[in-house]
Amino acid sequence: MSPSPHTRRLTADFLIVGGGIAGYQTALDLLSLGSVALVSRGSIASGSSYYAQGGLAIPWGFDREAIDSHVEDTIRAGAGLCDPERVRLLIEGAEEAFATLVSYGVPFDRDESGQILFTREAAHSRPRIVHAGGDKTGSYILKTLAQNVHGHERFTFLTPYRLTRLLKGSDGRIVGGLFMDEEGEGWLEVLAKATIMATGGFSALFARTTNPPSQVGDAAAVCHRSGAILERLAFTQFHPTVLDLPGESPFLLTEALRGEGGHVVNSAGERILFRYHPEGELAPRDVVSRALWLEARANPESGLYLSVTHLPAPYLKRRFPQVYSHCLSLGIDLSRDWAPIRPAAHFQMGGIKTDMEGRTNLPGLYAVGEVASTRVHGANRLASNSLLEALVMGHRCVRGISADPEWREKGIEPPPPEEREIPRTMLSVPPDLVSMKMIQELLWEKAGIVRFMSLVLSGREEIRSWLAMMREGPVTAEGALIRNALELSREIFEDLLVAPRVGANYFQGESPAQSGSSTQKKGKE
Ligand code: SIN
Repeated sequence: MSPSPHTRRLTADFLIVGGGIAGYQTALDLLSLGSVALVSRGSIASGSSYYAQGGLAIPWGFDREAIDSHVEDTIRAGAGLCDPERVRLLIEGAEEAFATLVSYGVPFDRDESGQILFTREAAHSRPRIVHAGGDKTGSYILKTLAQNVHGHERFTFLTPYRLTRLLKGSDGRIVGGLFMDEEGEGWLEVLAKATIMATGGFSALFARTTNPPSQVGDAAAVCHRSGAILERLAFTQFHPTVLDLPGESPFLLTEALRGEGGHVVNSAGERILFRYHPEGELAPRDVVSRALWLEARANPESGLYLSVTHLPAPYLKRRFPQVYSHCLSLGIDLSRDWAPIRPAAHFQMGGIKTDMEGRTNLPGLYAVGEVASTRVHGANRLASNSLLEALVMGHRCVRGISADPEWREKGIEPPPPEEREIPRTMLSVPPDLVSMKMIQELLWEKAGIVRFMSLVLSGREEIRSWLAMMREGPVTAEGALIRNALELSREIFEDLLVAPRVGANYFQGESPAQSGSSTQKKGKE
C-alpha cells in the first residue's frame, strides 16, 4: 500500500524525538555534525523540562573533593542501586554542561557582586544547586537552548506529532520514525542516520502527577515494540511537596523550599518528618513521600502542609516567584498560610536501557534524558540531578554518535516498503471499554508510593485483562495512546514484582510472592 497523500516525508542526518532540555541540548551539539530534524508533541511548554523549578545540581569548584561529595550524595539518595562509575561520569560532566549554558547566555541567578547563587535541596550535603529566574530554571534553560537552535539552517522543527513506529533498514539498523499528528489524521515519515529519543518519562500514567498530561511514555512503548530493552520501570519517584487543593491540578512546590528552611507540619503544627528520618525535611525524596503517605494513613483527619511562613515575605516573593504567585492565585499566601500537600508521581529513574553514550541495544537508536535508564539515579534520584543528566548525556551522546563510523560510512538504508506503509487499522481497546483515566487510577492505586503485593498482582491481572480486549479498529490518536499506555503498564507491573524492594520500590505488609534481581525487559516485534 502506498503512503497516503497526507504523509509528509523528509530525510535528515539526525532525528531527535522530543523537545525538552535533553532533546535541544543534543540538537545543538549535533548541528555541528549534520542536519537535525526535531519532532515534538507541541511547544517547549508541552514537556516536563519547562516546569523544572529547583535547578541544576553541579559540584561547584569542580575539584576532586566537590565531585566526590556530589557522587556520594547521589549514590546515597539512590538507595544503593546507582552504578558508581556512571555516577562519576555524570558528575564529572557537570563543568562542561554548566559552562556551555553560561556561554549560551542562560541567566543564572547571582548576588549583587555577580557571584552565582546556590541553593540546597534534600539529601544534598551542601548547597550546590544553581537556579534561574528564582524557581523558573527549566524554562530559562530550555528557552535559551531553543533560541540557539531555531533558525539554524540545518535545523527543522516538526510538531505536533507522536511517534507510532520506529523504521528499520533492511540491515536491521533504526533509520528513523513514522509519526501521527495529534489528531490522528496526518502522517510524518523522517528517515535519518541516527535516531535519538528524548521524550521524557511516564509520570502522567499516574492519576496524580507533577508532569504535563502528555508524559505518558508512549514513545518508550513504541521503542519496546521494536525490540528496545526497558529496565527499572518500577522506580517511579514521587515528589512529596505537591499542592493538594480540591478540584485543582497538582502543582509542584519545589524542594528548594525545604532546602531553604521550609517545614512539613501536621494540622497541629508539629514537624512530623523527624519521626521518620534524622534529617527531617532534608531526608531523601522517597523517604519524605513515604513518610507523608504513612502519616496520612495513620492520621487521616490531620492535614499535611508545607510551611514557609517563618521565612521573610519579600525573600519568598523574590526567590520563588512562580510558586508564590501560583499559590496566591489559588488563595494561599505562602508568607502567611500553610500549603496543603500530597505526593505525586514526578520522575522515572528507569526507561530505555542505554550506556553512557546513550546507545540502546538497537543499532542506530539512542536515548537521552528521562526516557533513558542510565543507572545514574539508582532507585531514587537526587534532587536537581535530572537537568544535569539531560545536559551531560546530550553532550555524551553526540560524542558517541560522532565516534560511530556506521552513520558516516553508510547512507540511509531505506526500510522495506511494508515498514513504510501507513497503517489503515490499528490494534487497541475501544475507548468506551478502557480510558486513560482508568489506567492512571489503577497505577496510582496499585503501583503507587507504597506497594502491596496483593495490589500489584491484582493490578497486573487488570492490565492483562484490558490488553486481552485489544482488537483491530480504526486508526486514532487516542487508540494509539491507550495501547501504548497498556503495554507500558504491563511492563511496569512485571518489573514491580522483580525489582529490588528499596527506595522507590518500597513494599509494605504482605511478604513478596517472588524475588529476583533482573529487571530488564526485552522488547518484542
Ligand atoms: C523540585 O524543584 O523540587 C524538583 C527538582 C527535581 O525534580 O529534582
